Amino acid sequence: MTLMDRKHHWDKVYQTKSADSVSWFQPHAETSLRLIEGVAPDKRASIIDVGGGASKLVDGLLDDGYLDLSVLDLSGQALSVAKNRLGEKAGCVSWIEGDITKVCLPAHRYDIWHDRAVFHFLTEADDRQAYVAQVLKAVKPGGHVIVASFAEDGPEKCSGLEVVRYSPDKLHSQFGGTFRLLGHEREAHRTPAGKEQLFVYCYCRVENN
Ligand SMILES: C[S@@+](CC[C@H](N)C(=O)[O-])C[C@H]1O[C@@H](n2cnc3c(N)ncnc32)[C@H](O)[C@@H]1O
Repeated sequence: MTLMDRKHHWDKVYQTKSADSVSWFQPHAETSLRLIEGVAPDKRASIIDVGGGASKLVDGLLDDGYLDLSVLDLSGQALSVAKNRLGEKAGCVSWIEGDITKVCLPAHRYDIWHDRAVFHFLTEADDRQAYVAQVLKAVKPGGHVIVASFAEDGPEKCSGLEVVRYSPDKLHSQFGGTFRLLGHEREAHRTPAGKEQLFVYCYCRVENN
């Protein structure tokens, strides 16, 4: 899939479906919030939600008092949904429209990199390598990376697109030795249509980059 195809696909999704009806919708991003709070108790921590789309994670982080938040997504439509929902509070967040495999991110800017259900769409090795290079560039040494993908026994597709499913070891091995695996957990996500989807969350510390 070309970059333009990807963007077109996701813009269309967010144009044609309400944010609370898509399969990945969570009314409250509970697991992500707990993991972020666990590794970043300081509210000044700089946090980027990669492929955040219209997720309510940013709402939860603002409510928790986090001060330095960025949301990146290749779909401008998705970001508009989140901004409109937040109203005035949207001004407290940096919004970045771009494809994570290509966008230019500042060096060593973030303490926390969060991704729920984005890395698993990268079915080409080149794209996964580009993604890991972005993490290494953009996350501060000593920072943390939280990536959630479909588990090995999770769905084979999302939004009509093929995904790669991961065990914790397989997911961690995509990132390599610079990333120290601190822990992982499974989550059974219930979609708005009532189906169960199994996710795996891995959280790592960037040892030295
Ligand atoms: C399944 S949704 C998950 C959204 C959000 N993380 C959540 O948990 O609700 C995948 C999101 O990743 C975005 N996305 C897909 N491929 C991307 C890429 N290469 N770069 C940036 N964003 C991407 C999509 O636009 C979409 O918002």
